Amino acid sequence: MSTIWQNVTWNVARAGGLTAYLLLTLAVCAGLALSAQLQSPARWPRLVNNELHNFLTLLATIFVGLHVLAVWVDPFTHFGWNEVLIPLASHYRPIWVALGICALYLGIAIGISTLLRPHIGYRWWRRLHLLTLLLFALATLHGLGSGSDSQSWWALALYGGSLWAVGWLLWRRVQVARRARQERAQLQKRLQVRQAQRQPAQTMAPPQLQRPGAWETGTAMAVRPPAQGGTATPRAEPWRASQPSQPLGRY
Ligand code: HEM
Repeated sequence: MSTIWQNVTWNVARAGGLTAYLLLTLAVCAGLALSAQLQSPARWPRLVNNELHNFLTLLATIFVGLHVLAVWVDPFTHFGWNEVLIPLASHYRPIWVALGICALYLGIAIGISTLLRPHIGYRWWRRLHLLTLLLFALATLHGLGSGSDSQSWWALALYGGSLWAVGWLLWRRVQVARRARQERAQLQKRLQVRQAQRQPAQTMAPPQLQRPGAWETGTAMAVRPPAQGGTATPRAEPWRASQPSQPLGRY
């Protein structure tokens, strides 16, 4: 009976760990695809969206929980709570297991930062969310180093495929950010040139003096147009008080 239980717990730990890793990869890929705006809604429906990203993250968290629980109850390895929760306390492959524990804590911290997003602001949340890449790296090293399946071709294909997918999407994301920065700089330069071209015309004469009807249409800005033969007078309180029902125009 104890051998069957031992097999069950160890297999659940292995399957749970590998499933959690696959789901983590998919969640990271969905997040990167979203931020790199990789999909074209004109060509296919928006399959990769925030809900999918959140759902994959939640599923990955559930499988990490199952993985840790199975490791803890497994009678063969005989892990205590301290070995499951404290990095380097494990008697079984301590460094590699410590990387998994650090990944778990990092995941909890990122989850809390998402819950606190309305308080910490988008900028800080984004900075903290970047730590997901560190989490992914830690989980990869942990799986490769502590897993009993790491030598098999299919496990190596899983790690290799995950690293390739995340690496490729990260590269695309960096390209998108670089292009956006270049476009912003070009736009700013064009605006500055246009502003420099416009400035001399603006200093020549105020617009309302060039367009005599502007005051009546409510587009005059600072100076009341001169009366017949008179001089221009600044729009001031006494004039406004003497004609309270007069529309004041745009300020
Ligand atoms: C983000 C969190 C974690 C992920 C994604 C993860 C993933 C994995 C993966 C993919 C494996 C390899 C399984 C195999 O080769 O069969 C593994 C193994 C293992 N993990 Fe984790 N793990 C995480 C956290 C933890 C934590 C917190 C512990 C705490 C003790 C832990 C303990 C172990 C142990 C003991 C093994 C060896 C199991 C075996 O030989 O198959 N892991 N983990």
